[in-house]
Amino acid sequence: MSSTEQSVLDAFYMARALELARKGVYSTHPNPRVGCVIVRDGEVVGEGWHVRAGEPHAEVHALRQAGDKARGATAYVTLEPCSHHGRTPPCAEALVNAGVDRVVAAMQDPNPDVAGRGLLRLMSAGIAVQSGVLETEARAINKGFLKRMEHGLPYVRVKLAMSLDGRTAMASGESQWITGPEARSAVQRLRAQSSVVLTGADTVLADNARLTVRPDELGLNAELTALAMTRPPLRVLIDGRLRVPLDSPFFKAGSALVATCAAASARERYHDEGHEMLALASSGGHVDLRKLLVELAARGVNDVLVEAGPKLAGAFTRLGLVDEFQIFIAGKFMGSSARPLLDLPLAQMNEALELKIVEMRAIGNDWRVIAIPAASASV
Ligand SMILES: NC(=O)c1ccc[n+]([C@@H]2O[C@H](COP(=O)([O-])OP(=O)(O)OC[C@H]3O[C@@H](n4cnc5c(N)ncnc54)[C@H](OP(=O)(O)O)[C@@H]3O)[C@@H](O)[C@H]2O)c1
Repeated sequence: MSSTEQSVLDAFYMARALELARKGVYSTHPNPRVGCVIVRDGEVVGEGWHVRAGEPHAEVHALRQAGDKARGATAYVTLEPCSHHGRTPPCAEALVNAGVDRVVAAMQDPNPDVAGRGLLRLMSAGIAVQSGVLETEARAINKGFLKRMEHGLPYVRVKLAMSLDGRTAMASGESQWITGPEARSAVQRLRAQSSVVLTGADTVLADNARLTVRPDELGLNAELTALAMTRPPLRVLIDGRLRVPLDSPFFKAGSALVATCAAASARERYHDEGHEMLALASSGGHVDLRKLLVELAARGVNDVLVEAGPKLAGAFTRLGLVDEFQIFIAGKFMGSSARPLLDLPLAQMNEALELKIVEMRAIGNDWRVIAIPAASASV
């Protein structure tokens, strides 16, 4: 077989492994989404994907399925096989023991516990190793995990719904509903894919927001809905002065993490009701958002979905903490007295925040624009 033919086949089987990895989008966090395909003599003999942290990795599922047929086969994995004893034994070792001939990885694992050692272990056992096949696609399914491993911060997505004239709430604060049911269902899936869904006190007070994942609104099949519901995101409320009452729908919906600057005596009541209180030094009179993100990453949070109004979304933006904006646009004008998208006071054109629009698509009667800060797009 020529090297071109081999590259085409490698990309073909890696694309299948990525498809498998994506099945874990609702359930693997804090672990990465990983898929594996084992091929011998042109036949797929094993397939697997990582379902949940603490459970077997993708390679183990695929090797189990392949059985003896793994001997002399090629294993395609979307992330370098692990080399350390975590909650499960090292996958590099399992591949060596199974007698595979060749391992093709989409990318190295930046996790300091692995970081090339998985590939080295395979090479030292005489296995042919290649890395970098469909790496861009592999990075795209693990943006949060990679951001946490490489920068010690979660990947922050800000979701906002706006009218065609860029407004997000009426002057009274009323904002339900700007977009239609299909867009709201897409937001439900975004929530289910996130480790954390975060909002602020005024959004909870104005909208009676609960930020829960509602299984009947996900629009997923039964298997994925069940997976999503086994690992719902942590709900995080930023409430500097503890203005949201304990009997609000947000707190009634279950336990939450509250980031606040309030004194210990004020925090006690919330703590007693089962909510975790995170006291964060005030920055300009408010919760320090960067410190909050560092703390969340230290707890294994990969992806944060910010569902807030112009003040909080604007604060994250001004601090350069946003990795991605998902803006849902409804075909309506809400008028000039309605509230803007972001509290982002700029005076001159050269201060404008440049964004790269990476996707734009219709969702029901609305449109969704995904944009990333241009500065990060060029890195
Ligand atoms: N269209 C949409 O997509 C959408 C989404 C959500 C909400 N909304 C609407 O937006 C309105 C509320 O928006 P909002 O932004 O005023 O409320 P918000 O989302 O609740 O944001 C205010 C919260 O952010 C905190 N905050 C403000 N500036 C901060 C900073 N620089 N650093 C850290 N924390 C900061 C405040 O802190 P303190 O606790 O210290 O005051 C407060 O808890 C409502 O009308 C709601 O209906 C629209």
